[in-house]
Order: sequence, then C-alpha cells, then structure tokens
Amino acid sequence: MNHPLDSAPKRVTICEVGPRDGLQNEAVPISTEDKIRFCDLLSDAGVPILEATSFVSPKHVPQMADAGEVFRRIRKDAGRTYLVLVPNERGLDRAMEAGVRAIAVFTAASEAFAKANIRMSIDQSVDTFANVVKRAKADGMWVRGALSTAFGCPFQGDVPVTDVVRVCKRLLDLGVDELSVADTIGVGTPNQVFDIVDALRAVVPPEKLGLHFHDTRGTALANTLAALECGVRIYDTSAGGLGGCPFAPGATGNCATEDLVYLLHGMGIETGIDLAKLRAASRFIAGKLGRPLASRAYTALEAADTRTSRLAAVR
Ligand code: COA
Ligand code: ZN
Repeated sequence: MNHPLDSAPKRVTICEVGPRDGLQNEAVPISTEDKIRFCDLLSDAGVPILEATSFVSPKHVPQMADAGEVFRRIRKDAGRTYLVLVPNERGLDRAMEAGVRAIAVFTAASEAFAKANIRMSIDQSVDTFANVVKRAKADGMWVRGALSTAFGCPFQGDVPVTDVVRVCKRLLDLGVDELSVADTIGVGTPNQVFDIVDALRAVVPPEKLGLHFHDTRGTALANTLAALECGVRIYDTSAGGLGGCPFAPGATGNCATEDLVYLLHGMGIETGIDLAKLRAASRFIAGKLGRPLASRAYTALEAADTRTSRLAAVR
C-alpha cells in the first residue's frame, strides 16, 4: 500500500539554534562559560549544524555581546557546521576574526519586520548582504540566507506567498548555499507549508531549502510533518524548545529538538543525534535558566527516568 509519507526523506539535517535563537531571548543572563558548555554538550549530542551565536549589534541584542569569545572557545568537531548570524559587514569582520567558516545573513518577508529586526528595508538588507556574501564566499565560507516572518508578521499580519518567493529569490541570486524560511512567530499551519514549499520549488532546489518553525501555537510538529511530506530535509530546532525573537512581540520557542528527534526516530528517519545526550544539554541549560523547558518529549523522558530511578532505589 502506498503510504502518504513514502516521499518523506530517510535522513533529515537538524540545525540546532538553541544557543542563538534560544538564548538571545532569555531574561536570565547566561555566562560565556555556560554558553560554551551548552554548545559543547550539543556537539557531544551529534547535532550536524550548530547555530552557535550571532555577531549582531550588542546595543540591540546584549545577550550575544560575547559572540567572539563564545565562538573562539567552543569545540569544533570535524564534519559539523558551526554557524553564526551576521547582519552586516561589521558582523562579518568580527566573525572572520573569530575564525567563523559558516554564516547566515537574515532579512524578512515583511517590510515592517525587517525594519524592527535589522533596521533596514528589505531592499537595503539585500544591498548590505551583497558585499557580505561576496566577501564570505571569496573566503570560502558556507552561507545561509534566512528569511523571517514567511508565515505571518507580528506587525503586518498575513504575508503573501509571492513576497516570500521574491525575497528568497533575491537571497539565492546573491549566491547563498541554503535557505532557512522561518515562521518567526509560530502562526503557520500545514496548508501554508504546502503552499510555500510548492511556490518555492520554482526558485530553490529541494536540497537547499530549510524550514524554521516556532511552536507558539502548537503547530510546529504538524508543520514539520507537512514539510516532510513535501520532501524538505532541513529543519531548525532548539534544544528543550528554547527561544523567541526579542523583536517579534509574543514570539515563543522554536520547535523543540527533542520533540522533532523523537518524532523522526519513531518514523525511522535518521538525524545522527543522540537523544539522551541532547537531553543532557537541555538539562544543563534548564538548570542555568532556572525554569522548566517547553519540550514535551524532553519533559516526558526526564519524568520517566526519574520514575525508573525512584523504583530502582525502592528495590
Ligand atoms: N556588531 C557589533 N556592533 C555593531 C554591528 C555588529 N554587527 N553592527 C552595528 N554595530 C554597532 C555600531 O558600531 C553602532 O555602535 P555605536 O553607536 O557605538 O557607533 C551601533 O551598533 C549602531 O549601528 P548602526 O549601523 O547604526 O546599526 P543600527 O542601529 O541601524 O542596527 C543592526 C542595525 C543590523 C546592526 C541591528 O539592528 C542588529 O544587530 N540587528 C540584529 C537583530 C537580531 O539579531 N535579531 C534576531 C535574529 S532574527
Ligand atoms: Zn526563530
């Protein structure tokens, strides 16, 4: 019998964004030492791409002010990609000084969000990135183009699919190696995933398309399943479901890495990630944040382990 998910990939690449998308939005300051430890635990867990930090303006995002030191001191395993966000040439200079080999430039599908997040119009941001991408590629770097608010904008509301395609095309024309198309405020539903992925087929080869879901309204896994059905193989998630964007009112955490890994492994789809080691990374950062994590899989598996160890103690 044909299965609806026969077209789903057998292996998925997860880009772990907890240290950046997650920590940038936390009120509790996390020390440089603890950020480094968190990244190293995520490397231990086997994440193939780690978005470690961002070289943005410390005036706008104080939590990422120590990007240079964090990046220099995290362990870089062979075969993994350590990615950072770069908004302009100043960011690229700082990234190069720190030895970065993979960057993401980022703009938005809606003008209002681009203005709030990077204080540029979409056109201005693409102009700014032209030099950034050119210099990065000349240096042999891997470059990602990230697009915020593709599924809805906190200021504008609905975002036309044609705008998403138009800005993605402009990023691809700059020469980026991969796209990450984001539901920054977690408003998307699976029908939108089908529409957006379908419309993007005309401009981006499937192996270059990544999606970035937030679970603000509980639709992140449903959206991921829809995207798997479309053959999308790259997903951004955050350990424990950390996250949000300081410039997107009401935005909460990313799709949790544990939730997606649990779902994929259950479906026989490989990720290369060790779920127990991933939970160790999340447990570490939860302790530093002093709050419970949003991830359902993390919470359930931690509770099951506690029950088992209690039973063992009784015996
Ligand atoms: N790294 C460090 N400092 C930077 C910087 C960078 N990449 N870019 C700008 N700055 C500094 C400037 O030197 C300037 O400092 P000064 O006032 O001491 O001279 C200050 O930041 C403002 O610079 P300006 O060029 O006027 O930028 P802006 O205020 O228009 O902000 C961005 C533009 C893109 C730098 C800023 O909006 C930004 O960093 N946004 C990132 C937001 C983000 O990370 N969002 C989450 C990801 S979705
Ligand atoms: Zn995000």
